[in-house]
Amino acid sequence: MNTPENLAQIGVVGLAVMGSNLARNFASRGHTVAVYNRSPEKTRTLIAEHGTDGNFIASETIEDFVASLERPRKAIIMVQAGPATDAVISQLADAMEDGDIIIDGGNALFNDTIRREKEMAERNRHFVGAGISGGEEGALNGPSIMPGGPKESWETLGPLLESIAAVVDGTPCVTHIGPDGAGHFVKMVHNGIEYADMQVIGEAYQLLRFGAGMEPAEIADVFAEWNRGDLDSYLIEITAEVLRQVDAETGKPLVDVILDAAGQKGTGRWTVKEALDLGVPVTGIGEAVFARALSSSLDQRKAAQGNLPTGALKTFQELNLDKERFVEDVRRALYASKLVAYSQGFDEIKAGSDEYGWGVDPRDLATIWRGGCIIRAKFLNRIVEAYDNDPALPALLLDPYFKGELGDLIDSWREVVIVATQLGLPVPVFSSSLSYYDSLRAERLPAAIIQGQRDFFGAHTYRRIDKEGTFHTQWSGDRSEIES
Ligand code: 6PG
Repeated sequence: MNTPENLAQIGVVGLAVMGSNLARNFASRGHTVAVYNRSPEKTRTLIAEHGTDGNFIASETIEDFVASLERPRKAIIMVQAGPATDAVISQLADAMEDGDIIIDGGNALFNDTIRREKEMAERNRHFVGAGISGGEEGALNGPSIMPGGPKESWETLGPLLESIAAVVDGTPCVTHIGPDGAGHFVKMVHNGIEYADMQVIGEAYQLLRFGAGMEPAEIADVFAEWNRGDLDSYLIEITAEVLRQVDAETGKPLVDVILDAAGQKGTGRWTVKEALDLGVPVTGIGEAVFARALSSSLDQRKAAQGNLPTGALKTFQELNLDKERFVEDVRRALYASKLVAYSQGFDEIKAGSDEYGWGVDPRDLATIWRGGCIIRAKFLNRIVEAYDNDPALPALLLDPYFKGELGDLIDSWREVVIVATQLGLPVPVFSSSLSYYDSLRAERLPAAIIQGQRDFFGAHTYRRIDKEGTFHTQWSGDRSEIES
């Protein structure tokens, strides 16, 4: 019999590693946690292995699970995004009562979350789409959490989520992001930035390994050194670990036996697709997504390897490059390209927030991304300061601090893109980010000729720099200009 004193403050549905770790995290903070998994084995395993870590109430039916939750009931779904999530939402909504809260902690597409939130509101259920970042370790010891949904739900959920989130300078890495799909939207962009972050690290590795001829262990030392400076971040830290790892079977560096074909579950793609619709040039994230796709086009790559003219390449030695100088130049190119990716990511978040009316505060995001999440990094403190100083910053790159940083980075950035080209090494994000940067600051862009072309073949008109209005040149007639 469930009596009030032994009901659970929070419940978790879906007990794969992420779900189990999240449940254990709640239990480790003193909460009574209801747990349920469609196949009971996972529930039994969690209790067998970690039942003494705290107060769990295990159920083998959704109905018993819901009955074990104190009102207003709060259940977090940690199952695969898509139909599985819809199925669990429906089961929970049927078993729950008015005012109860369903939280989707998976990487759901924010449009699905907007739909689900509406559907659940019609049934007097609260629905919260919450991005949860930090992987398995983060779920257990402190993730960064990005809940959307009704403000009213946050009043109830906030203290619970704050109790399990990572904490930086005394501030939990969780806040209410905004209504309906806002949480899953910013998680999606977080992942897009993550892709770009990982790709620029990969490009730096590529240059040091196949340009400068450094061994993985030596490059690991370089990354460990970079991790003590402006690039201090989780991804730089783990890259050094990956580079140090020796494959037990062959005795070779593990990185040399891993197939160079990158997987992607989809959040990076979603970020780019949405940016295209919003008209936001997330070039760094886009190139990172395409780089993963190209790397996985193994048959096409095999057909192209050694089968395409290279042109006149140079070797590192022929370019007479100083290795220490080159390493520092690569660090600066990585940092500059990373800045572009974050600036573009925040542009997309602003555009999404404006489009959907969410009122997302970029300062809040930078604050909760300082810890727990995959892109956690020291320089996020600088992004917080940037938006503190000017909440309406037109672009992160234009913050005075970052402008100053770019002043120190730009020459190396250009040099590295040139050298990579001469070495014949691909740096899609380094180079596209530099072109984005030069486009952003350019006095005139090739768009003028594009407008002329569009007007010539489609009479799509153009504007002028010297007067208001829209105009068309009568290309097939006397080529006089008329105001359209
Ligand atoms: C996180 C991660 C996580 C991501 C997986 C795999 O924030 O904890 O971003 O949500 O889904 O790491 O992502 P990809 O398969 O897309 O690389």
